[in-house]
Amino acid sequence: MATILLVDDQVNMRRSMALLLGHEGYAVREAAGASDALAALRSGPVDVVLTDVRMDGESDGATLLRAVKARDPEIEVVLVTAFGTIADAVDAIKSGAYDYLTKPVDPERLLITVRRAVERRALAREVRQLRAQVHETDEIVATSPAMQAVVAAVAQLAQSDSTVLITGESGTGKELVARALHRQSPRRHGRFVPINCGAIPETILESELFGHRKGAFTGAIADKKGLLEEAHGGVLFLDEVGEMPASMQVRLLRFLQGGEVRRVGDTETRRVDVRLVVATHRALEDEVAAGRFREDFFYRINVVGVRIPPLRERPEDVPTLADHFVRRIAARLRRNVRGVTPGAVALMTAYHWPGNVRELENAIERAVNVASGELITEGDLPATLTVASRPGALRGPAAAEDERARLVGALERCRWNQSRAAVTLGMSRTTLWRKLREHRIDA
Ligand SMILES: Nc1ncnc2c1ncn2[C@@H]1O[C@H](COP(=O)(O)OP(=O)(O)OP(=O)(O)O)[C@@H](O)[C@H]1O
Ligand SMILES: [Mg+2]
Repeated sequence: MATILLVDDQVNMRRSMALLLGHEGYAVREAAGASDALAALRSGPVDVVLTDVRMDGESDGATLLRAVKARDPEIEVVLVTAFGTIADAVDAIKSGAYDYLTKPVDPERLLITVRRAVERRALAREVRQLRAQVHETDEIVATSPAMQAVVAAVAQLAQSDSTVLITGESGTGKELVARALHRQSPRRHGRFVPINCGAIPETILESELFGHRKGAFTGAIADKKGLLEEAHGGVLFLDEVGEMPASMQVRLLRFLQGGEVRRVGDTETRRVDVRLVVATHRALEDEVAAGRFREDFFYRINVVGVRIPPLRERPEDVPTLADHFVRRIAARLRRNVRGVTPGAVALMTAYHWPGNVRELENAIERAVNVASGELITEGDLPATLTVASRPGALRGPAAAEDERARLVGALERCRWNQSRAAVTLGMSRTTLWRKLREHRIDA
């Protein structure tokens, strides 16, 4: 239900409009002047402001309009004017008011105007959320040399038509890269059709990919196009290709060699022009060696490979990714969170992120929700980060081993630059230096 803020210095006027709007099911709040109204805006959500132009003899409806728009441009403002101030109202519309009503206010018009303003407000919100989502799929954050190499490879591979095999642990951004390949390629006007080979039962996978004829099997009540045909002119993204059953690998191999599909139960073949992008979190060479993946299919899809390194191997990306997610998520959730404190950055950079970028994104989403100020602090981050990174969280020889490995790992990643390693580990240089001595690590 929408909330309307009524601003008028005349109590009677407010009361009658409040009754009318309340009767329509709106939540109504009231303010006696511009400063009152701004206080009301600070104390709770408002969708539409309905304000008198001239209050206490002053023309402050326009001032209020500017203040409201500065605070939240999506709040719609409707002005109420006496006959003599229509010129003001016209000016006001130029500066962003939704509409104006003239006194005496006609109840019918009032309700229609308010309803439209509420609708527009809802639309604006939806557009913003959709934009945020669209934008979300866009940007590949790449600060580390390793990710910059991935971005450069994507730009180059987008121009060719060969099959690309994307590998990387879960949550490293395989799908993001696959979408970027499509978006940057001449096939961007065709569709990007994703299919998760691991999530679809073998019996259904064939008809999903190749389609079927009506009556080909029980339940095939009509002719159906497969995803390969859907992706004609575009890109078919075979996600988790390591989980694909051998029978399907054979069929796809045949398709890749001939460029033709035959729907299940059909005799006719159709030419289909798709580019294949495949992804897996598995080491397919090992799968081939173990006899779980067909060698011929592997060679056919492994034409060019893009490997996305796990996040722990590129700690330089953590602060930029964190900023990126804070901006995006805060905008989506409309929370006034702008960044991350140095302490929280250090904690995040030191963590090993087994769930990679996806885990980082989730941690930030949670933090944006619980943050009480403009910056995300250590306390806003999930406890797993703190426990895993706190010195001495584990005790005993195993813990010492663990710490030693962590120190050496960080140093190696930072090419033995102690200042950088200290940042990565979330400790001061002095602490790092002391720990190196403790562990007898010769830097
Ligand atoms: N370099 C990056 N820049 C910005 N966002 C990223 C980056 N890498 C990953 N993400 C985001 O992290 C999330 C996980 O990425 P994605 O789904 O592409 O990973 P994945 O490797 O396909 O994971 P899974 O193996 O679990 O399917 C997505 O929201 C994605 O937008
Ligand atoms: Mg994925």
